[in-house]
Amino acid sequence: MFRQADWNEPLIFNLGRNGRRGHVLPRVEEDIRRTVGDVNMLIPENMRRKSQLRLPELSEVEVVRHFTRLSEMNYGVDSGLYPLGSCTMKYNPKINELLANLPTINMVHPYQDESTVQGMLEILYRLERWLAEITGTYEVCLQPAAGAHGEFLGTSLMRAYHNFNGELEKRREVIVPDSAHGTNPASAAMAGFNVVVVPSDEDGCVNIEALKEAVSERTAGLMLTNPNTLGIFEKNIEEIAKIVHETGGLLYYDGANLNPILGKARPGDMGFDIVHINIHKTFGTPHGGGGPGAGPVGVSEELAKFLPVPRIVFDGERYHLDYDRPHSVGKIRSFYGNVAVLLKAYAYILSLGFEGLKEVAEVSVLNANYLMKKLREIKGLTLPYNSEKLRKHECVFSAKPLKNDTGVSALNIAKRLLDYGLHAPTIYFPLIVDEALMIEPTETFEKEELDRFVEAMRKICEEAYTNPELVLKAPHNTATSRLDEVKASHPRTMALSWRMYLKKNKQNL
Ligand SMILES: Cc1ncc(COP(=O)(O)O)c(C=O)c1O
Repeated sequence: MFRQADWNEPLIFNLGRNGRRGHVLPRVEEDIRRTVGDVNMLIPENMRRKSQLRLPELSEVEVVRHFTRLSEMNYGVDSGLYPLGSCTMKYNPKINELLANLPTINMVHPYQDESTVQGMLEILYRLERWLAEITGTYEVCLQPAAGAHGEFLGTSLMRAYHNFNGELEKRREVIVPDSAHGTNPASAAMAGFNVVVVPSDEDGCVNIEALKEAVSERTAGLMLTNPNTLGIFEKNIEEIAKIVHETGGLLYYDGANLNPILGKARPGDMGFDIVHINIHKTFGTPHGGGGPGAGPVGVSEELAKFLPVPRIVFDGERYHLDYDRPHSVGKIRSFYGNVAVLLKAYAYILSLGFEGLKEVAEVSVLNANYLMKKLREIKGLTLPYNSEKLRKHECVFSAKPLKNDTGVSALNIAKRLLDYGLHAPTIYFPLIVDEALMIEPTETFEKEELDRFVEAMRKICEEAYTNPELVLKAPHNTATSRLDEVKASHPRTMALSWRMYLKKNKQNL
């Protein structure tokens, strides 16, 4: 059984000792000292530090050991399966990191004149074109820094479009199915719309009769997460598109989960006017812990004039930043977005090619369905919403029968999985499944790793029936045992920086 390293590692500030050095700076040359006297005088008076900085003082090897020990207490995509549903935690090829970190690329500064960053603009321009091709849209904006940020841009574009047509006053509602990602209603509300929720049918797809009732002249648009949070590809897209478009509304595609349809189907071809994708999920760039990410938005020709400035344009010879867009919604982010993340996506697409992207989709769907079929046989778990239907990139099980029989919940299963050396899946989401376990294996884990997960799940469910206490008190083999969930995420108890730590302990910096 797996055991996380369990170092009793102090904070780096507590490890420091006065006078210890990791690096010794070269002495100031004697002739400079002779000319200027006190070198501190080279710094203008108002920019000189008055008090001593309280930084930990350590040797290089102490720093390396400290962070190595911390990393051994951690778990990541490089350690093993990381099946967090709706997060697409795939392995990120190291070559992309190397390419994006080439000094000729990452030393470019956004304040440089555009004539000196032609190469960078070309990469971003090409990436826009590739993503437009992949999503079947007319133009793409790379600027949003996350999926939810892309949604906010998308719903702002809806506003701009209806405003341009003189209908914004009337069109105040955005329709969101109950199987949508939680950020969808939040983004619609942030853009000033009222959210109308439509329920799912027994197949986990949009209930068409309920949709017909919800749509009206007040409809600004519909946001569809597809495949939805149950991992199910919406079966009635053409009909949904017709219903919404006929009343003058726009269709928004939440393509954060683009992985299973890469190279296979394009939201633009399905009739969607606005699409966002999550670069940090689908296009092999690392994410987690709050960022960084990128949530580009693609739009139809009709909506292109509303996209944020600046737009990168190519006149056949040179690339330019175009701010002269009178209908633009304005700026949505500083500079051109999270360029480092976008560069990795560029390298990812370039290295896989179109055939490679298709294979990503095929293997990710195969893996999710392989897991789904194996897990379906385990006593205590059920697969709500048509258990015979194939899934796309993920599947959502319910641990409700197990909880009823043994008291062991989805949370307890997730904790016990850590003892087996596996990352837990997403739990309690989507809200339409009781005791939900949302599992997304991605294409980057081999069959043996998937089998290890199935075997661990089977054993845990067996343990729940034979020795429930073991599961209820898990994890046992990790660096930290079960945390108080409330305290662990409450701002009053968390100290996320040294400054916060000192403040909580009533000490001065
Ligand atoms: C379907 C879907 N939409 C939107 C988002 C939001 O993306 P982000 O977390 O980058 O804001 C996610 C994130 O997991 C998602 O799965």
